[in-house]
Parts: sequence; structure tokens; C-alpha cells
Amino acid sequence: MVYDTIIVEQRDAVTLITLNRPQVLNALNTLVLEELSDAFAKFDGNPSQRCAVLTGSEKAFAAGADIKQMSEKAAADFFLEDFFSGWQSKVAATRKPWIAAVAGFALGGGCELAMIADFIIAADTAKFGQPEIKLGVAPGMGGSQRLTRAIGKAKAMDMCLTGRMMDAAEAERASLVSRVVPAADLLEEALKTAAQIAAMPPMAAMVNKEAVNLAFETNLSQSILIERRLFQILTATEDKKEGMAAFVEKRQGVWKGR
Ligand code: HXC
Repeated sequence: MVYDTIIVEQRDAVTLITLNRPQVLNALNTLVLEELSDAFAKFDGNPSQRCAVLTGSEKAFAAGADIKQMSEKAAADFFLEDFFSGWQSKVAATRKPWIAAVAGFALGGGCELAMIADFIIAADTAKFGQPEIKLGVAPGMGGSQRLTRAIGKAKAMDMCLTGRMMDAAEAERASLVSRVVPAADLLEEALKTAAQIAAMPPMAAMVNKEAVNLAFETNLSQSILIERRLFQILTATEDKKEGMAAFVEKRQGVWKGR
């Protein structure tokens, strides 16, 4: 598939995906969703690729869903096509780890997309917000749910009801992002972190992602039981044998991915 709205590059075991609609600050339309879904599915299906980074431009990660596209649709269109359900059923279904590297605006759907990532590394220029209320709507790509789980009710309500932006320092204090770096270092830091993850035993990386995500899906006693089972399943892998042998023999592990 040739992409119009994104650029995909492979850097060793890391897939770098760049949103590329600079004229509209990377606004997310149906084509972006289709192309990103395809790129993430290919990343997931390619055994040579172990971690991905999704980024935007210096000015904007993404300034939200495409307001022009949405302004032309009637309520029945949104409902009948189940508008933007693919962010959940496709992009969020990616099984391998991926990081959002955010500089500039991450607003509305842009903030929601960043929150679908396994974690966010922010440039000191990043600005997060859920300004949908100003357009007479509300988040529709998981924002009200993921933001509340990430930063708690008080701040999530503040963001959704006022539509204000949160800068990178506040986002780090609120645990919306895992770290903040100078804008000039953002991509290098994200790629370095992704390479670190890509060097881990791949099944263990996928299971660790699945295990952390369980915390948002079910109650504590069930999720702790599932976590224990996931751990036990991983002990059957060749990479577990290799990882523990490598530790004992004081050398680096060499992973088979199974
Ligand atoms: C379509 C957009 C856009 C968007 C910016 N542009 N955001 N086009 N959809 N979400 C376009 C502008 O129209 C403009 O095009 C160009 O990008 C540059 O933007 P400016 O506004 O001129 O830049 P600036 O003055 O720097 O302001 C930046 C900004 C502002 C603060 C980010 O663009 C803005 O407020 N954007 C909208 C943010 C927003 O409300 N997002 C939430 C969308 S709703 P022209 O042609 O004029 O040069 C949403 C719902 C998700 O995301 C759930 C869906 C199910």
C-alpha cells in the first residue's frame, strides 16, 4: 500500500511512522485511520520489527480529528459507518509495543491517539488537550476514558470541560507522559527507547504490554491471576531458558522470539 498521509520507515528492528498532513497540522481523517491501521498491522505481522514509534511534526503531533471532514457529515453518517471505531478495533489492537513521540499540539483525537500508544514521550513543546466541547461534541476515540484512567477525574474533568491545553511539564506531573525531553532530542530519545525495547525477548515484550493493559480491563484479583498465568506461559519459551542461562553465565542473551 502506498501511503498519502503517513511515512513509514524501518530503522533496524524499529518501525518509525510519521503523520504527514502538515497543511492541516496532521488532522486525522478516515484515510489516516486506514493507512495507520495498515501500517500497524504490517508492523505487527513482520517478525523483523519489534517496536514502533509514531510521531508528527515539530508543530503538531495531531491537532485532532479532521474538523472539515466531520463538518460535512450528518449524525446518521457517523452512526452508520461507526465513525472512527477503527482506532479501537485496529490501531489499539496492535500487539507489539509502540511509543508516541509528541511535539507541539496533541489535541482532541491527536491526544486520544497518543494515549492509545503504550506510552508517550513528550517534547518540552508538547501541548495536550481535549477541546471537543468547544465544537459542541465530546471525545470519541477513547479520550474521556483513557485520560481519566491516566490522570484521574479532577484533571480529566478540568481538561474536558474547559477544553484547555496542558503543557508538557503539567502532563509529566499528571503522569500523562512518561518523560519530557528537549524538542531537539525527541526523535532520538524515542528511537533509542524503542531500540532498547526491540532488543528485549519479543514474546516477553508483547506479554508485558498485555499484562500492563490488563490493569485497565478487569478487576484486581482476576488481573493478578491472569498476570501469573502469562508469567507461567512465558517460562515455556526458549527465550526464557536463554535469558536465565545468559544471566547465570554473565553474557548477553540471544533471542529466538519464541
Ligand atoms: C482540520 C485543522 C485542524 C483540525 C488545524 N487545522 N486543526 N483542520 N481539522 N482538527 C488546519 C487549520 O484549519 C489551518 O488550515 C491549518 O490547519 C493551520 O492551523 P491554524 O489554526 O492556522 O494554526 P494555529 O493558529 O497555529 O492554531 C493551531 C491550533 C488550531 C490551536 C491547533 O489549529 C486549532 O485549534 N485546531 C483545532 C483543534 C481541535 O479543536 N481539535 C479537536 C477536533 S475534534 P488553513 O487552511 O486555514 O491554513 C476531535 C474529535 C475526536 O478531535 C473524536 C472523533 C470521533
